[in-house]
Amino acid sequence: MDFIKIFSPATIANLSCGFDVLGLCLENVGDEMTIRKIGEKTVRINKIEGADLPMEATHNVAGVAALAMLREWETDFGFEIEIKKRIKAGSGIGSSAASAAGAVFGINELLGRPYEARELIKFAMQGEKLASGSAHADNVAPALLGGLTLIRSYDPVDVIRIDAPPELFATVIHPEIELKTADSRSILKQSITLQNAIIQWGNVGGFVAGLYTNDYDLIGRSMTDKIAEPVRGMLIPGFDQLKSAAQSHGALGSGISGSGPSVFALSKGEQTAHEVASAMGKVYENMGLPFEIHVSGINPDGIRIIEKK
Ligand code: HSE
Repeated sequence: MDFIKIFSPATIANLSCGFDVLGLCLENVGDEMTIRKIGEKTVRINKIEGADLPMEATHNVAGVAALAMLREWETDFGFEIEIKKRIKAGSGIGSSAASAAGAVFGINELLGRPYEARELIKFAMQGEKLASGSAHADNVAPALLGGLTLIRSYDPVDVIRIDAPPELFATVIHPEIELKTADSRSILKQSITLQNAIIQWGNVGGFVAGLYTNDYDLIGRSMTDKIAEPVRGMLIPGFDQLKSAAQSHGALGSGISGSGPSVFALSKGEQTAHEVASAMGKVYENMGLPFEIHVSGINPDGIRIIEKK
């Protein structure tokens, strides 16, 4: 096999209470990537469609993740990567993660799968480091493993994959502005009060317990954020209105998707997720803001192979 085409999905990180530790994988939003083996021992980005991103492998998140993997895995050949970006950079639904995770997933397949999916996380994190200055794993882990993921520890990387309750659906609205993760990380406070830490870890535990027991109300009650939302919320147009629109139309909870500016809501049932979408959409229509909106189930598989030969 020396060619593979994959679908690399968008992801929602943090999920309100789990800054840098929780994430989920979306079903129908994502990039397409093709990777080919080449005779030369190098990594080349030979085409990017749909975005203006660096072509130099050492400056490209997919290239950096691929190179991190190849440093550990001796080969006498290399890889050429083509990316069709459908996830907008700086939208808050894991655009850089889809490229980084997609590259290492595809190369692993072409190498005959020497690594398990979870072992690829550390390579993909190098792409995130290039993109945002921090090697966070809460987007690459759900892209690679599917479902929902909890980063129990970063040192060493220890990731727990959790199945989504069957009726869990996500709504994500993207005001068409770009917010760089590096910028929205730089404004965060570096310390939190004990009082807020108690609230935060109580909610992470509650959220995970809710996932395991299919307790949708518990999931919703746990979706509060004392760390990022109070600081980042003000960067997002109509943030409070979006949250109240979601809440009053039956969402379990809502918050900032990753580092924003996308805002997400979780709902029980697809119908409710669509009602939440139209309510959130109306907020931006009334403000005269262009936006994109997605309703999606939780993707249990993560990155998907479209073709290989
Ligand atoms: N956990 C990261 C952050 C996700 O909030 O900065 C970035 O997509």
